[in-house]
Amino acid sequence: MEEQIDERIISAEELDSDAFEQSLRPLSLDEYVGQEEIKENLRIFIEAAKMREESLDHVLLYGPPGLGKTTLAHIIANELGSNIKTASGPSLEKSGDLAAVLSNLEPGDVLFIDEIHRMPKFVEEILYPAMEDFELDIIIGSDGKSKSIKIDLPPFTLVGATTRAGDLSSPLRDRFGIVSKLNYYKDTELQQIVKRTGRVLDMAITDDAALEIARRCRKTPRVANRLFKRVRDFALVKGTGTIDYEITLDSLKRLKVDEYGLDEIDIDYLEALINKFNGGPVGVETISTAIGEEVSTIEDVVEPFLLQEGFIKRTPRGRVATEKAYDHLKITRQGSLF
Ligand SMILES: Nc1ncnc2c1ncn2[C@@H]1O[C@H](COP(=O)(O)OP(=O)(O)OP(=O)(O)O)[C@@H](O)[C@H]1O
Ligand SMILES: [Mg+2]
Repeated sequence: MEEQIDERIISAEELDSDAFEQSLRPLSLDEYVGQEEIKENLRIFIEAAKMREESLDHVLLYGPPGLGKTTLAHIIANELGSNIKTASGPSLEKSGDLAAVLSNLEPGDVLFIDEIHRMPKFVEEILYPAMEDFELDIIIGSDGKSKSIKIDLPPFTLVGATTRAGDLSSPLRDRFGIVSKLNYYKDTELQQIVKRTGRVLDMAITDDAALEIARRCRKTPRVANRLFKRVRDFALVKGTGTIDYEITLDSLKRLKVDEYGLDEIDIDYLEALINKFNGGPVGVETISTAIGEEVSTIEDVVEPFLLQEGFIKRTPRGRVATEKAYDHLKITRQGSLF
């Protein structure tokens, strides 16, 4: 069942097969579409840091998967003219792992730590003096004979990324001078991203086709690019070599991604909720059994988008289908007056 979810084309999560994502990453703030406020602020802070010949303040980027955090971290390093070194929260298991990364830094480097909320607490504590005073405090030796030594670090910029800002401890959060929340993208911005992807991959796409992909990608650039890739295959084999509106509609239908970006699992969920449980309220365990998906899958990957788009509501007594869900599935509410 896990597998099936991993392969969902509309999943915002990074997939192993997505090496092609890297080729699509914009390299400068000018190329990075949308998130205007964040870009404007970063431009100023980067400029000021360069004028002062100091390292940029530490930056925390947070927001849902696929909105461009990793991309932005690399852009920050590029714009600073700095090198970037990368690590991820879960891979920093021991204090020594982080100490090794920190002691490898060169002056002005950007250290990007992805999934920073997943660092163990005792590893995180090593970051505090490193961020604040560019100092590495390590304890050497064991038990009775241990002593603490301080090592100076070069000035560097930590860029942390997380999908769950709420899981970050406040001492860590407070040590970031710049905290930016990435938002879901507008259709017109996603259209621009899709057009850009077409240029990078050398595959023409019409404006209306790009807008249609934009509308169905769950407001997420990663999903937009993934849909583009699949639609491109259809256009190559079945079409004229240009992605037009018709071929896009046809491909998306074959991929079973509907006009709201809902796929089969979303539709199964809504149909079960409405047809089997009369629109709710019903507990998530019951829905899970009805559609044969894990509770955790439903809570983590199916419901967030349905909630956000207003297809369902959470109540103390369980999930409830909204009017929008009934309309979308073209089902008339039972017991309705009409
Ligand atoms: N603002 C943008 N403009 C153009 N392309 C973008 C933008 N944001 C993201 N992308 C594209 O979307 C893809 C996913 O972006 P990225 O990997 O940076 O997301 P992320 O926020 O780091 O996701 P995760 O939370 O899974 O780590 C990349 O291929 C990138 O090219
Ligand atoms: Mg990332």
